Amino acid sequence: MLPPDSTLLVTGGAGFIGSNFVLAVVEQKLARVVTLDKLTYAGNPENLASLRGRDDHVLVEGDINDRALVSRLLREHAVTAIVNFAAESHVDRSIDGPGEFVRTNVNGTFELLEAARARVKEAGAGPLRFAHVSTDEVYGSLGATGLFTEDTPYAPNSPYAASKAAADHLVRAYHHTYGLDTVTTNCSNNYGPLQFPEKLIPLVILNALEQKPLPVYGDGLNVRDWLYVEDHVDAILLALARGRSGETYNVGGRNERTNLHIVKTLCSILDRLAPAKDGRPYGALITHVADRPGHDRRYAIDATRIERELGWKARRGFEENIERTVAWYLEHRAWCERITSGVYRRERLGLENNS
Ligand SMILES: NC(=O)c1ccc[n+]([C@@H]2O[C@H](COP(=O)([O-])OP(=O)(O)OC[C@H]3O[C@@H](n4cnc5c(N)ncnc54)[C@H](O)[C@@H]3O)[C@@H](O)[C@H]2O)c1
Repeated sequence: MLPPDSTLLVTGGAGFIGSNFVLAVVEQKLARVVTLDKLTYAGNPENLASLRGRDDHVLVEGDINDRALVSRLLREHAVTAIVNFAAESHVDRSIDGPGEFVRTNVNGTFELLEAARARVKEAGAGPLRFAHVSTDEVYGSLGATGLFTEDTPYAPNSPYAASKAAADHLVRAYHHTYGLDTVTTNCSNNYGPLQFPEKLIPLVILNALEQKPLPVYGDGLNVRDWLYVEDHVDAILLALARGRSGETYNVGGRNERTNLHIVKTLCSILDRLAPAKDGRPYGALITHVADRPGHDRRYAIDATRIERELGWKARRGFEENIERTVAWYLEHRAWCERITSGVYRRERLGLENNS
């Protein structure tokens, strides 16, 4: 699907979606991959452990803000495309400390774009595509009806969303101003294996197994459009391989669910797959907590463009994927324990305005 002899520079490839992407590309031998990752709390080299010793993958620890490093990697590895996953990605953390979100998501994307712009001007450099991975949160919040299309005006409400929106605008500008070959995807909430347990689905699974409260923000009726990470990886590969230059593509699972529904679904799957020792249903642990400041009510994606133009579609249904996800976390308890043994202990984040 990708041109032969492709070499991808994948930033943030040790994080949740990035590592699912890198594993798919390398295991299917679609391209050589250079993973560049700062290995923040969310970046985990263990996610890529199965690739150790291969000559078609290298993991480089470094910051996308380090333009000299990025330039060197682009040149030394004759990179044909950059896929930019690197980001601070958790809305609650952006409420507590927006500075790091601006540094990585905005300045970091700028530095990558500058390195790419310089590289394509170098003698002998071949084509270089810049694929930028973004979010539906840039569009703000929906009411009870309607869907985000690629023409929906940007209206970010959290520092995270604002930083991603700024990065998207820079990518757009580098295409229009400098002719950089860019493609941007804006996707909805991902779920699946290897997600850091600060996010709703792994947090609920791990808390339930430890008989801890299952926090539901506010009334729990905020709606998200859940996208299985493998389907997202397929979409990014299609956009990278065949997306129109300068274009943006929305990617969503057509799976609108309230947060409360997600938590109840997880509880009933766990009741079957890993019943509590005392026999009580996990649903008894559901606890409504203070809402997130500025919590967007509903996100939903119209994915018609990527479906029609690039032939993308989700491989399986939500019910099957959510069960596979729970099963993955049950089978990878050691991974979960190691990843949560650092500073983060699944405490509540992002209440800055309420304190
Ligand atoms: N998870 C979702 O539901 C979702 C939804 C829409 C869009 N996205 C976007 O997809 C991308 C990946 O999200 P994720 O959930 O995998 O995030 P993640 O937090 O799991 O991973 C982010 C990765 O980026 C790395 N990183 C952070 N700062 C860096 C820097 N300055 N230089 C190099 N590496 C750095 C981290 O170490 C980590 O490995 C992000 O750009 C995010 O905005 C995610």
